[in-house]
Parts: sequence; structure tokens; C-alpha cells
Amino acid sequence: MDVLLGAQWGDEGKGKVVDVIAPRYEVIARFQGGPNAGHTLIFEGRKHVLHTIPSGVFREGTMNLVGNGVVVDPVIFLKEVRALEAVGVDVRSRLMISRRAHLILPSHRALDAASEADKGKAKIGSTLKGIGPTYMDKTGRNGLRVGDLSLPDFKERYATLVRKHERLLSLYGRSDAPKETEEEWLDAVQQLRGFNTVDCEHYLDEALRAGKNVLAEGAQGTLLDIDFGTYPFVTSSNTISAGACTGLGVAPNRIGSVTGIFKAYCTRVGSGPFPTELEDATGEHIRKAGHEFGSTTGRPRRCGWLDLPALRYAVMVNGITELAMMKADVLNGMDIVRVCTHYRVGNTTVDRMPYDITSGIEPVYVDMPGWSSATSEGELPAELVRYIETIEAAVDVPITLVSLGPDRKETILREGTHVQ
Ligand code: IMP
Repeated sequence: MDVLLGAQWGDEGKGKVVDVIAPRYEVIARFQGGPNAGHTLIFEGRKHVLHTIPSGVFREGTMNLVGNGVVVDPVIFLKEVRALEAVGVDVRSRLMISRRAHLILPSHRALDAASEADKGKAKIGSTLKGIGPTYMDKTGRNGLRVGDLSLPDFKERYATLVRKHERLLSLYGRSDAPKETEEEWLDAVQQLRGFNTVDCEHYLDEALRAGKNVLAEGAQGTLLDIDFGTYPFVTSSNTISAGACTGLGVAPNRIGSVTGIFKAYCTRVGSGPFPTELEDATGEHIRKAGHEFGSTTGRPRRCGWLDLPALRYAVMVNGITELAMMKADVLNGMDIVRVCTHYRVGNTTVDRMPYDITSGIEPVYVDMPGWSSATSEGELPAELVRYIETIEAAVDVPITLVSLGPDRKETILREGTHVQ
């Protein structure tokens, strides 16, 4: 099983790469996160945003699996299914959901909002999709799972959990769980029963034994990992490659290649430290040129230069074997492109991510000549090739794919072939 994941703070363009390489795989499996993710794919002039469903759903002959590590909001999931069916995608025959995946309740969303409001200035900048509270119930052993939908007492279990949430909400000074969305949720749950569910650990074991190629598709990014990200400004799941093992029930010795997706610059949405952030006209230029607005929340993304110590960290904790560099075209036309090679911490210079990057750390940059125009037609400009080679040398991993536009076709595989 190969793994594909984000090497920065999410929004690296994973959806596009999965879509491009999907023909190599018979199964594409999401292993963590939930509707906080927004994987954008553009082809044949149409834009598609996926939140819960794996990005292989557009390819005939590919099975898409929502793993046990994912949290599913039935309402959002059904909206996604309907949007896909409206453009002729046969979702139901290409999709399976793990029975062990946990359900997001409307009251989880209410708790997310209450917790963020309570944090005041220290808020995480959550997408408010109920992700944190749902994983809290999972580890607290209170959660409801997709497999529970077939239990005769599902409604009572639901009511018990909502009562617990109401008690928590009252601690935050909120009166009730949101009754207005309950009916819609219960209706969506009823419809969810019509989808194929599976024990994904067994399904994948059989698929791998039969010699099928499986791709595990991550959501968010390494620096949002609950353990190794910029805690507490992180999401509530393991976004790193180890998360593919726990989020799908696949043993570590079955992992093959690990592809890390990164942008030619950095972005971050929500709060938290971001050493190379540009709060100036250059940052604004990148935001506009790169359309850096959240695909789930529409929030403007914070933009900054490429951070090599952070990328090296991602290579290390994930065991990244190859890298895909996205959105190099966004930097077209810049005279100088800066790259952070080290951090200055007090009087010392370090080339690795310190425990705390909240304050007292300053990026050390090298300036590189920019490129005028890079497209997927013809040769890459020499300056961009130098940029790519500088990164490869710094992190000791090859960049095998370069993306130069949102469309499937605007992709260069570094062996020189174009994507069809
Ligand atoms: P949550 O996972 O919605 O609770 O959000 C926690 C943090 O992760 C916030 O800073 C979010 O902006 C960020 N986050 C969550 N999902 C994504 C994503 O798919 N892309 C980028 N940032 C994300």
C-alpha cells in the first residue's frame, strides 16, 4: 500500500495528485479527518470539491474506501453524494465505508463552536465541523460508529450521547443541542444505511493479498498532526503516514512508497505559528495568484515562503520517499523567490523544527532568482529547475511530480511525460 499525504499545513493539492495517479490504483482509501478537508479537483472545465469521499471516485474501476480513522457527518456526506450523482458519477458502486468509522452528530458541531468561543483569543481556528469533539468521544469511548446504525437500539444510543453533550454545552453556558438539525441528521443516517459498509482491515488485507494496488489518501497535513504538528493549533487526528496504519487497519510492513505533497510556498488557515508567513504585499500577491481561500470555509489562507526545516521534518516523520511540488506557476513572474533554510533561535542557528515555534524563532532565507513563466508545455525554466534541485538537495528526496496549474493536464511527471 502506498501513502499520499500533505507535507505542510494542509491544502497542498492532494486531491489533484490522487486524481492524476488514480489510474495506477485499484483502491483509494481515506484514513483520517472528515469534512474539515476539502479536496479540489478540476478537469474538463469543471471544479469538484470532496470532503469525505476519496478522490478516486471519478475514475471508473477504482474502489473508494472511507476508513475507520475517518469521521463522517451523514448530512455533509449525502450532499457530497448528491453533487457527484448530479454530474453522472456512479458513487454508490465505487464507494465503501468502514463500519468502524465514527459519526459526527449535530451536537458535536455545537460543542466545537462552544469550545472555540470559550477559548477566545486562543481559538484554534477550527473549521467547526465537529471534528475535535467527535474524536474526543472516540477516544473517550462514547462515540457512535457507522456499524452501530444496524443496532436495534441505535436511537437510544444517539439520545444518550446527545444528553451527555447537552450537559457539556450547559457548562459552556449554551442551553441545548441544536434540535433544528436533528431531523435532517436522522434522515441522513437513514439513507446512510443504504451504502456499502465493510470491515476495511479485512477488505484491504484481501485486496493486498490479491495483488491489488492500494493508495491511502491523507487529509490536512503533517504540521496539523495531533502529535507532531504545531500543537495545540492542529487537527484531532494523526495525519502522518503512521495514521494510514491505524486509520485503515493495515500493518506498517505493508507500506510501500510515501508521497509527500507540498506547495512551492507555504500556506496555513486558522491560527497557530507560521515562521515564514508574509504579512505584506508579497503574501497578498501569492494569496490572489494562488486563489488561497479555504475550499471548506472560504477563509483567506495565510501565505509565506517555502520552509525547508519544516519540509525536512515532514520527510522524517512520514518516511517520505518522493515529493510532489504543487502550484509552482503561482510564483511565475517574481524577481526573487525566498526559501527558508534554517531558523535562528536566540544566538544559534538550527536546521530542524524546535519543540516550540510559537515565538523567538526567526527564519533564515536564501534568495533565488525567480522564473518568468512555467507551464506544462515545453521545457521548465532553468530557474525553476534550480529551485527544484535546491529543495531535493536540502531534503534528500526526489521531486517526481511538478504541478503547474489546477487541471489534471497541467502536470509534469519528472521523467518528462505529460499526464493524459
Ligand atoms: P479542525 O480540524 O476543523 O478542528 O481544525 C483544526 C485546525 O486545522 C484549524 O487551524 C483548521 O484551519 C485546520 N484544518 C483542518 N482541516 C484542514 C484542511 O483540510 N486544510 C487546511 N487546514 C485544515
